[in-house]
Amino acid sequence: MTTARFGPAGPLRGDYTPPADKSISHRAALFAAMCDEPVTVRNFLDAEDTRSTLSAVMALGAGIEEEGNACVVVRGVGLHAPLEATEGRLDVGNAGTLMRLLPGWLAGQPGGVWTIDGDESIRRRPVDRVAEPLRLMGAQVDARDGRFPPFTVRGAPLTGIEYALPVPSAQVKSCVLLAGMMASGATTVVEPGPSRDHTERLLRRARVAFEQDGCRMTIAPVDELELDEIVVPGDPSSAAFVIAAAVLVSGSRVVVKDVGLNWTRTGFLRIAQRMGAVIVGDLEAPGTVASEEPVGELDVASGPLEGTVVEPEEVPLAIDELTLVALLGAHADGETVVRGAAELRLKESDRIAGVVEGLRGLGADIEATPDGFVVRGDGSPLRGGTIHANGDHRMAMLGAVAGLASVEDVEVAGMEAAAVSYPGFERDVKALL
Ligand code: S3P
Repeated sequence: MTTARFGPAGPLRGDYTPPADKSISHRAALFAAMCDEPVTVRNFLDAEDTRSTLSAVMALGAGIEEEGNACVVVRGVGLHAPLEATEGRLDVGNAGTLMRLLPGWLAGQPGGVWTIDGDESIRRRPVDRVAEPLRLMGAQVDARDGRFPPFTVRGAPLTGIEYALPVPSAQVKSCVLLAGMMASGATTVVEPGPSRDHTERLLRRARVAFEQDGCRMTIAPVDELELDEIVVPGDPSSAAFVIAAAVLVSGSRVVVKDVGLNWTRTGFLRIAQRMGAVIVGDLEAPGTVASEEPVGELDVASGPLEGTVVEPEEVPLAIDELTLVALLGAHADGETVVRGAAELRLKESDRIAGVVEGLRGLGADIEATPDGFVVRGDGSPLRGGTIHANGDHRMAMLGAVAGLASVEDVEVAGMEAAAVSYPGFERDVKALL
């Protein structure tokens, strides 16, 4: 385990381009693998999680050529191909998105049998949420204790269903939509509220017959996907760590370039703005890149913050940044409350327990609730101390940002976890100091 120390190092200043989006990179590799013709993916994220996706699609018979400069050419096997590695084990590593999307494709391959497994963290993450709709469609999914990896997917001829998601989850929505492409008849998914819509955008780009009316979407069976190029924007969730540091460290001014500004991912920016953070930019009218995704520029400066309440409907739009809301809340004046975020307990680690224990160890007045947390501050910075990443990339980066904003140093135990989504994190932060 690597321990890294982050201290009050002065303002962050300059231009910053975040790494490529993890969610969209996973989907780009999977969609490309489902195509008959080669697909060029530009700005593909080079990180542990997305390497797991490349390995999985290669195990299923796809060819991967890395052309340099973050350009990957995927030679797919087609949507309805007899996929290789049947009876084999597919290792998803730490990648929850891969674990929950891949079964949607495999379930529609009659005769195929695959066992999906991953690391220690993935073995604690439930798959019943995707197993249930896939079983209703006709596939057989057997999980350890009925809920956890390793689990086996037996492909079958699928039948379209109408499925109301019990939890707002882009991963479950995506899994059902992928299976719907191979089902007979239409498949309808109804979300309780909006969640990230990268799958829907790629489906449109691939010219799949797809209808959407608010949170209700219907997909028809498809023979083949039509894609030639996908461009991945910068990851707003990775950028959020640098943005939070720039908001918190006095005298900072950072211009964030080429960042994804899809509104289903920018909940954290809106929450931070409401707390008083100075974040100006293309939030309303960004440009787009060849993944149908909005991108733009943000200008971020430090300033005083005040507490806020994050309501349940905002949670899916800021799900991976809520630990940063806790950190901003600890530095803000007043009370910050996050409600309706029980899903945080099922991420790479229990992020409610981790952020409460971690920030309390640095001097924060913070309490856990069953579905979130309450943090109180008086506008002064945290003291410092030690925080454990618990093998969770976002907890490692949270500790680093806390260190930059604290009075004393913060020691992050398990900093190597950052490589899951953001291998260049420490380098990028140093370049701004
Ligand atoms: C993701 C969806 C979210 C998010 C995860 C990535 C995706 O998970 O937390 O980091 O790429 O679809 P849920 O769908 O479980 O909310």
